[in-house]
Amino acid sequence: MANEETTADAERVSKITAPMIRARKGGPPITMVTAYDYSSARIADEGGMDMILVGDSVANVVHGHPTTISIDLDTMVLHTAAVARAKPRALVIGDMPWLTYHLSEEATIKNAGRLIRDGGAEAVKLEGGRKRLPMIKALVDTEIPVMGHIGLTPQSVHAMGGYRVQGKMVEDARDLIKDGQALDQAGIFALVLEGIPSALADIITKEISAPTIGIGAGPGTDGQVLVFHDVLGLSYGRSPKFVRRFADLHAAAVAGIDSFRRAVENGSFPNEEESYHLSDEVAQALRDL
Ligand code: KIV
Repeated sequence: MANEETTADAERVSKITAPMIRARKGGPPITMVTAYDYSSARIADEGGMDMILVGDSVANVVHGHPTTISIDLDTMVLHTAAVARAKPRALVIGDMPWLTYHLSEEATIKNAGRLIRDGGAEAVKLEGGRKRLPMIKALVDTEIPVMGHIGLTPQSVHAMGGYRVQGKMVEDARDLIKDGQALDQAGIFALVLEGIPSALADIITKEISAPTIGIGAGPGTDGQVLVFHDVLGLSYGRSPKFVRRFADLHAAAVAGIDSFRRAVENGSFPNEEESYHLSDEVAQALRDL
């Protein structure tokens, strides 16, 4: 009995890898959430996520920038390393910031290498379709697992003219299908589909062999991803319609801080148990000084 439990436990906690995710196409839904530091990684992992994305959305939800294009590679490495230190069972994916995979294949490999070597990421994600194929192929050839990301790609906010749902017209939808197929053939292990109509996400999901992970892409993808702060009610301003809040940690946190303030103000914190004490001997010696 003890042995059976140990085996089951070992299976449950075994580390998730990129090939394992790749092999889950068409299987039970794959789950991913963003995390940006040690404690959010612990929470995501204990919540049973398959993948943790150290997303460049850290620019918005942690650093308060209006877009993701403000974040640089050093900052992404710092956040990725904090997540990796939690040693999660979930696969850790480092998001490549804007301009770190656009200039040359060599620069792309070096930059991804920093997320892997210095940040402890086990895979990288980058935005864009066929335009990014040479970089994606170069990474795959360097044995770096790559997650693609097409549709509403936030780093293209200026080129898109805002955060708009993509693929609503026939030509755009066809382009996205071709992008998905090309990335799949280049060897990505999974593909994020963001901000596209569900019917288009369903077609791409059927057309490619890598699992699709949706965000604002309807229920037909192979998995779903949301931003940590959105899931837990820690984000501010108007949320896109695909966001569902699964907890209200902001309210819980404000209530906790408010209780701390009131306890200090009314003298009930710290109490005797929460304080360090001198031995009677030392206390007496100090009184006798
Ligand atoms: O940075 C991020 O949070 C992302 C997800 C929305 C997929 O790219």
